[in-house]
Amino acid sequence: MRSHYCTDLTTADIGKEVTLCGWVNTYRDHGGVIFLDLRDRTGLMQIVCDPADSKDSHEIASHVRDEYVLRVKGKVRARGEGLVNPRLKTGQIEVVADKIILENPSEALPFMIGDESVNEDIRLKYRFLDLRNERLQNIFKMRSRAAIAARNSLEKMGFIEFETPILTRATPEGARDYLVPSRVYPGQFYALPQSPQLFKQLLMCSGFDRYFQIAKCFRDEDLRADRQPEFTQIDVEMSFIEQEDILNMAENMLKDIFSACGYEIKTPFRRMSYKEATETYGSDKPDLRYDLKMVDVIDIFERSTNEIFSSIAKDPKKNRIKALKVPNGDNIFSKREMNRFEEFVRKFGAQGLGYFQMKEDGLKGPLCKFFSDDDLALIVSRCDLKVGDVVFFGAGRKKIVLDYMGRFRIFLAEQMGIIDQEKMEFLWVLDFPMFEQNDDGSYSAMHHPFTLPKNIDEPDLEDILSVAHDVVLNGFELGGGSVRIHKNEIQQKVFKLLGIDEAEQREKFGFLLDALSFGAPPHGGIAIGFDRLIMLATKSSSIRDVIAFPKTQRAQCPLTKAPSEANSEQLRELGLRLREKEQK
Ligand code: AMO
Repeated sequence: MRSHYCTDLTTADIGKEVTLCGWVNTYRDHGGVIFLDLRDRTGLMQIVCDPADSKDSHEIASHVRDEYVLRVKGKVRARGEGLVNPRLKTGQIEVVADKIILENPSEALPFMIGDESVNEDIRLKYRFLDLRNERLQNIFKMRSRAAIAARNSLEKMGFIEFETPILTRATPEGARDYLVPSRVYPGQFYALPQSPQLFKQLLMCSGFDRYFQIAKCFRDEDLRADRQPEFTQIDVEMSFIEQEDILNMAENMLKDIFSACGYEIKTPFRRMSYKEATETYGSDKPDLRYDLKMVDVIDIFERSTNEIFSSIAKDPKKNRIKALKVPNGDNIFSKREMNRFEEFVRKFGAQGLGYFQMKEDGLKGPLCKFFSDDDLALIVSRCDLKVGDVVFFGAGRKKIVLDYMGRFRIFLAEQMGIIDQEKMEFLWVLDFPMFEQNDDGSYSAMHHPFTLPKNIDEPDLEDILSVAHDVVLNGFELGGGSVRIHKNEIQQKVFKLLGIDEAEQREKFGFLLDALSFGAPPHGGIAIGFDRLIMLATKSSSIRDVIAFPKTQRAQCPLTKAPSEANSEQLRELGLRLREKEQK
């Protein structure tokens, strides 16, 4: 229908007859002449409807309202002297309407297009209107470019694109499954894949060598700003490789994807062990856009005369005492703010939050009396304190201290406004522990049970590391993967350590174990969270902004009203009866 998109037109087109199609963004009646801003996917064009040019089009224009759909035929002309709008891409020109066809009117809108202060549930209910918002339009254009760049990049590196089943069996990513009841086999269920993990490993066993998929994954877990129940991974697997090959491939691919999003990123990325990340930044996904670091001071605190500190310090394997220096903090924070910091860390299990201030004449603060002068001097040198700095201390169980000090680090950076929003700080976190202990004392795989251990024969399970890798961007886990176990005997050992007996192994992963026993190649891979990537590349604060039809925090879709009840006929067909209804 159209001859041009609105912003295709420039002053070079003055005098041309054009046809534009789109929505009425705004309209203004200036004493008989009506000005419309017509909007399409590319932007706006001012349409002038003067009864002197065309009575009919002026008549139609006098009845239009916001979001009416029009087809406008007319001539491009330069805007009059002083009427140029420098904020508009097409601000130097306008189209004089010769003929306007009203394609469709619009009801009064539930909210103004682009008004993001409106309650999110309402915006999601009318998501088709919300998506007319220019910011969201730009996000989805970028998302499309990024997906195409990922495909091109992987194709260039020799990868083959696959699709793997959505109706399948449970996959071992550790979240709750979404189940789909089978009609043909009453009482039996398909599980939606938490990732294509097992299928991509099977494809390596089939000899395809390099697999990728832009894959939908489903996880029934608590939702957060960076989590959705249904999300997309750029999922990759490759054969006859070592970890280094996976990291190189991923860096190349991310470079290409981010380039399509307008960023030139530097490779190779920084690398850090899991241990360094957690001990220094209190997180396995540290945000390195700012330089706040923690230092171990447990040995110094062991000598303190404060019994709480010295007893914590007696068990340095289980406990931690960490110092976090804030340069110039003494000049930045008031006493009241310092108290607020303590309230903050208490929410995450801290017993308190000690601090020292570095003054002209040395360390000051309520804790000083517990330390010898030598130890105070040691704190100054260990933390590299300058006059005006403040140093905070966390002491207690390792897991709790690292967690709350890590959160406190982020909180401080936000409070101090030291996060450079323009920075893109990529990081590989390597050398993850293979196992992690659950609250009940049992162990589970930190990544998944098919991850290759580095030192399986280590007597202490907590010392066994894995050949796994996470890629972190600005404090978010962007992706994760590993080199896999391709030998049955190692897989057996890992299952044994995890307490998964043979019957459970066969029941859950029989097909993978079979595949590993028929000549499986060495292989490994990675999956990048595509939604998270777009969230970070577009600097969106919520993952919901970058998913066309997302779920709310409560996993509902206000647009389609999913999930919804099944009627009794459907339930009967599936061999299901609802417990609550039964009880009524
Ligand atoms: P993992 O479970 O680490 O690894 O997932 C990979 C990446 O997927 C993204 N992600 C999510 N994004 C949005 N919402 C969610 N609920 C969500 N869960 C995960 C994250 C994460 O880094 N099969 C392995 C990969 C492999 O070993 O190759 C896997 O799925 O960005």
